[in-house]
This record gives sequence, C-alpha cells and structure tokens, in this order.
Amino acid sequence: MHEPILNVADPRASYLALKAEIDPAISDVLQAPSYILGPFVERFEAEMAAYVGMPHGIGVNNGTDAIHLALRGLGIGPGDEVITVSHTAVATVAGVRMAGAEPVLVDVDPGTYTISVGAARGAITPRTKAILAVHLYGHPADVGGLLELCSEKGIRLVEDCAQAHGATFDGRMAGSFGAVSTFSFYPTKNLGAIGDAGMVLTSEAEVADRIKLLRQYGWETPQHSLIEGWNSRMDPLQAAILSVKLRHLPAHIERRRALAARYTAALANLPIGLPEEVRNCRHAYHLFVVRVADERTRDGLREYLRGFAVNAGIHYPFPVHLQKAYAGKLRAGPMAVTEAAAGTVLSLPLYPEMSDADVDRVCSGVVAYFAHPS
Ligand SMILES: Cc1ncc(COP(=O)(O)O)c(C=O)c1O
Repeated sequence: MHEPILNVADPRASYLALKAEIDPAISDVLQAPSYILGPFVERFEAEMAAYVGMPHGIGVNNGTDAIHLALRGLGIGPGDEVITVSHTAVATVAGVRMAGAEPVLVDVDPGTYTISVGAARGAITPRTKAILAVHLYGHPADVGGLLELCSEKGIRLVEDCAQAHGATFDGRMAGSFGAVSTFSFYPTKNLGAIGDAGMVLTSEAEVADRIKLLRQYGWETPQHSLIEGWNSRMDPLQAAILSVKLRHLPAHIERRRALAARYTAALANLPIGLPEEVRNCRHAYHLFVVRVADERTRDGLREYLRGFAVNAGIHYPFPVHLQKAYAGKLRAGPMAVTEAAAGTVLSLPLYPEMSDADVDRVCSGVVAYFAHPS
C-alpha cells in the first residue's frame, strides 16, 4: 500500500478544507470594481489588527517587505544597526538590508531558539536603533526581557511574527508588544495565503501613515509622491482569502497544539530534544522541531523517514552569518547555539489537516529509527 507523502506543511489541504468559503470569497473580488488595495484589503487589515490587538494594520506584498517597510517606517536606515538572529529565515536579514541598515546578528537561547537577551545586550552600540526579535517556530521570544532592555537603551523593539500567528506571551498576542510587528502570510504559515502576502502592525499612527506611503510610491494622493517609496501593495484576492482563513485560525492553532502534544507523548522516551514551551507562553507550533545528538543522526533519521513516506525539513541548515551573500555585510557575535542547531534540528510534519494517524505514522518511523540506528 502506498501511503500519501507527509510534508512539513500542506497548503493545498488547507485550501481544500475551506474551499466552500474560499471560492465565493475569490469570486467576490473578481466582481469588484478595482483589483488594487480597496475594501477587501482594508477589511483584512482591520481584522488582523483586531486579532493581534494593535491599532493599525498595513497590508503589504510579503513578510520580507513588511520588515523592510517597518524599519523604514520607524526612520531606521543607512548608518543604523539592527540586532537580530542568524538562526532564522534569510528573509529576516534581507529585510534589514533592504532598509539600508546594518544587521548585527547574535546567538539564540538553547531552549526556545529565539534571540538571547544577554547576547543582544552585549551587541548594543551607539548606532543600534532596534532589536528585531523573531518568534521562531511559533514560540515567542523573551518579550519581557527585550522590552526592558529596549526601554533601558532607548531603542525600538520590532517583532518578526512570520511564524507566530496565534502565539502568546503573558496572555497577549505575539505582535502586540513591539513598536511595530511584521507578519508573513506565505502559504505554509499558520495563517497562509494562496500566494504572497504580508502585513505590518503598529500602535503608532504616524508610523502607520508613513508605511502606507512607503508601500505605494510615497503617494500622498494618486500621482503625488511625498516621499520616496516602493510598490508593496497587498493583493485583494489574498486579503479576501485571508479573511476567511483568519476565522479558522484559533481552531487551527488548537489543532496544531493537540498534534504537538501527541508527538510529545509518543517521542518522550527517545534520545531527542522536544520543543519547549516556556511557562508564560503559548507555543503556536508553526513547526514541530526536534533535536538530535549530531548531524549524522539527523541526516540518517531524515533519510530513514522517507521510507515511511515522510519528508521532514530543516529550519535552518545554513545560519545567515555563514551565507556567502552576506560576507562582509553584517556583524556577527559568538554563534555556538546557532551553529550547533543548524546541524541537529529536524522539522517533523505539522499542519491542522493532519490526522492523528498521520502523526502516529511519523512517530513510528522515528521510534523504529532509534530502535535500529544506522
Ligand atoms: C522568520 C521569517 N521572517 C520573514 C519571512 C519572510 O516572509 P515572506 O516569505 O512572506 O517574504 C519568513 C518566511 O518566509 C520567515 O519565516
């Protein structure tokens, strides 16, 4: 019998589960008088801002643009430094470079893989303007420690929430703490579009106004550019789809958490590290990332799982500070945790449409591997 392949994420399953709502939403946009920005984008901006608990939402083209425009919106640019992590999607650092600022990369905490507050403190210079915290895998960074550090040093906190829709810290949504927070709606995310989309949220009206200009050629009114800008408008088709999916997000997060609990119970007695959930946090389980002893074991397990029709992933195999593209373009501190993680982490399939039996199949593969390690 051939079992269907389980990938780390399955955006098509998400569409098929919600097809009866998504298809009419797409049709509504097709009938609209204009296909650029407009009421579908404005509605989703308001819904997403309300969900996270921030006053202003600005829909943009993707999560990388969201970081770029968030930083520009705060007036951060050439000559400024932004502290962030190397253990993240390249996109995080690309956004900083797009703003013209210098990325300063620091190590992560070994428990949550999010930015080490101590390392961030050690990297602050007179040119530091912001800390860009990534809530990696769906677990919030230590927002409390970061806010204290930022207010002590007079710098801004920016949250990269691309992987953390629905995560909470002290009962508040990730994305509601920083001066500005950024989201990606890349199809595999907890809230995923059927194409590219992103958003910036902010509590500051002036910053929101500036980002609205920046996303559309700096236009104050059509054809009048007040400042230099770009084109990063959210597509109304994606906005309409995201409005549908946002209604299901709380249930999807619950399902992700239930599947994560099932994994945790089944894998508890194996020689692998399981995701941690810090006491005052709610993990949104964008990814279920386990950790093994060394790279040989990780790569062996990944290969072995293919025999169970399971495609595990690696987030991330190449730290950004070691990527050729960034040689000489950023500063990086000691990276012991980041470099060890790159060789030992493995992402198991996790998405709301998975069945319990799917998780059991992945787990039986992992258990069998450790029973007969290659
Ligand atoms: C942590 C992180 N930041 C930023 C991004 C960029 O998002 P996008 O792919 O929408 O540009 C992603 C997603 O790829 C991400 O995972």
